[in-house]
Amino acid sequence: MINRPRRLRTTPELRSMVRETRVSADSLVYPMFVTEGNDIKEEIDTMPGQYRWSIDRMGEILQDVISAGVKSVMLFGIPEHKDECGSEAYSDNGIIQRALRYAKENYPELYYITDVCMCEYTSHGHCGILDGHYVDNDKTLQMLAKIAVSHAKAGADMVAPSDMMDGHIAAIRSALDENGFINIPIMAYSVKYASAFYGPFRDAAGSAPAFGDRKSYQMDPHNIREAIIEAELDYEEGADILMVKPGMAYLDVLREVKARFNKPLALYSVSGEYSMIKAGAKLGYIDEKKMICESAVCMYRAGTDILITYFAKEIAQYIKEGLIG
Ligand code: PBG
Repeated sequence: MINRPRRLRTTPELRSMVRETRVSADSLVYPMFVTEGNDIKEEIDTMPGQYRWSIDRMGEILQDVISAGVKSVMLFGIPEHKDECGSEAYSDNGIIQRALRYAKENYPELYYITDVCMCEYTSHGHCGILDGHYVDNDKTLQMLAKIAVSHAKAGADMVAPSDMMDGHIAAIRSALDENGFINIPIMAYSVKYASAFYGPFRDAAGSAPAFGDRKSYQMDPHNIREAIIEAELDYEEGADILMVKPGMAYLDVLREVKARFNKPLALYSVSGEYSMIKAGAKLGYIDEKKMICESAVCMYRAGTDILITYFAKEIAQYIKEGLIG
């Protein structure tokens, strides 16, 4: 026998030498929730180990993130008051704007990405301005532009629009530029599916739609050619980074987008993916640590450059321990 693939699998040193995928903490982003109020560290029922933090306590988690070796966080805000047009989302004194000012001042070594969307801020829980029961695309664009500019003013290093409106990147890019933020990059949630994997997030952020669903703006899981159209539009409108979301069940989509577009690509491994691993581990059905490691490696192997995950701290730790890398 001339070819024996097992020859390269004989020792741990050799196996790590011939690895095709390298994982680094530099490309991890940790998503987290900031809420109104004081002295709050409230565990999210459906996401054990993840919390809603008030601004006065968010330093605890930011410090943990830094110690773990993760360099970037993505902030989600939970406002006190919601209204029809989600006005807290762009208020100078909104939860995200105040959280950003606090975090940038006290933990400037971290890189801050903000989620630009209205669903956590609207009374109806949809991601835009309603016209009857339909989300009005073009009216929503003006709001998204205002939200992005207010985040940049409060210190966001990067904005990440997750609304799935048509023309959103162009609207946000020109508003940022007009306000002098030419160097604030946009990470576009380009290919975002209408997914049941967001269930625990909606519990965390109180952002479930009051009626209907998000299928008139988020994508149908049956489609992949349409994913290319979405990515292409965001690319042409000036997105700096493209994103596919959710993660694990959509790696075919990630690979397709990676093959066609020469921009950095992010993958969002969402709340449902986190909660499945947590629940399985709690029941004793799976090994949590090994599942976290293997799934992270698979997402990088499929082609992601950046991984947004609630397991960011753990993955960074496992890289340090040499379990993956
Ligand atoms: C806001 C938004 C959602 C997520 C990220 N940004 C929820 C949604 O679209 O319903 C989901 C993230 C997760 O599940 O971890 N539009």
